[in-house]
Amino acid sequence: MEHEFWHERWAEQRIGFHQPEVNKYLQTFFERLNVADFEQVFVPLCGKSLDMLWLREQDCSVLGVEISETACTGFFSENGIDIEAYPHGAFSVREVDSIRLLCGDFFRLTADELAKVSAVYDRAALIALPKEMRLRYVQRLLDILPAGVKILLITLEFEGEQGPPFNVPANEINELFAPRFHINRLHEERPTDPKDAGRTEVVWLLSDKATN
Ligand SMILES: C[S@@+](CC[C@H](N)C(=O)[O-])C[C@H]1O[C@@H](n2cnc3c(N)ncnc32)[C@H](O)[C@@H]1O
Repeated sequence: MEHEFWHERWAEQRIGFHQPEVNKYLQTFFERLNVADFEQVFVPLCGKSLDMLWLREQDCSVLGVEISETACTGFFSENGIDIEAYPHGAFSVREVDSIRLLCGDFFRLTADELAKVSAVYDRAALIALPKEMRLRYVQRLLDILPAGVKILLITLEFEGEQGPPFNVPANEINELFAPRFHINRLHEERPTDPKDAGRTEVVWLLSDKATN
């Protein structure tokens, strides 16, 4: 998925993936991440998700990365926060009240940026990417994440290859993460909205074998 694809989606406000409310699976399963107060949760490909505000309300520090300047400015302005960005390496950074939002390409992140992360919350990041990019995404993520992290991951399963969002079957989760993580399929649910007919939402908890 090229950057231009996402820039166009944001420019045209074709952002059906954006949820007007905090994600229910995050609220239900957050405690399984065992995040202590002030520990940092990484939200890759974060858009302008309200989930970041909710995480901060749980006393987490939040680190988001998002390619779209429109999404990054929207996140703050729509939540009544007036803030200027400053340049930092490959990113423009906005930081306020324990939320640090990096505007730029996920693939330019380094281990230094993620050094304090203790958990990852992936909603509509992995499933936003086509198969070959998912492999690169996970390889990069695992290269730069510190040891001992847990990941709360929400995926979709359905028949078909079209996307985004893409079908990410259980065997692929296994191939991508099993070398390093214990994999726990926490929950699955068929959405009630008719537009989601045939889809199953799946919630995964991935725990780094290094310390768990
Ligand atoms: C399907 S949306 C999900 C957004 C958010 N996680 C949510 O739940 O609303 C995927 C997001 O990833 C962003 N994105 C795509 N490729 C990216 C990249 N290489 N680096 C950073 N962000 C990227 C897009 O701009 C888009 O906002």
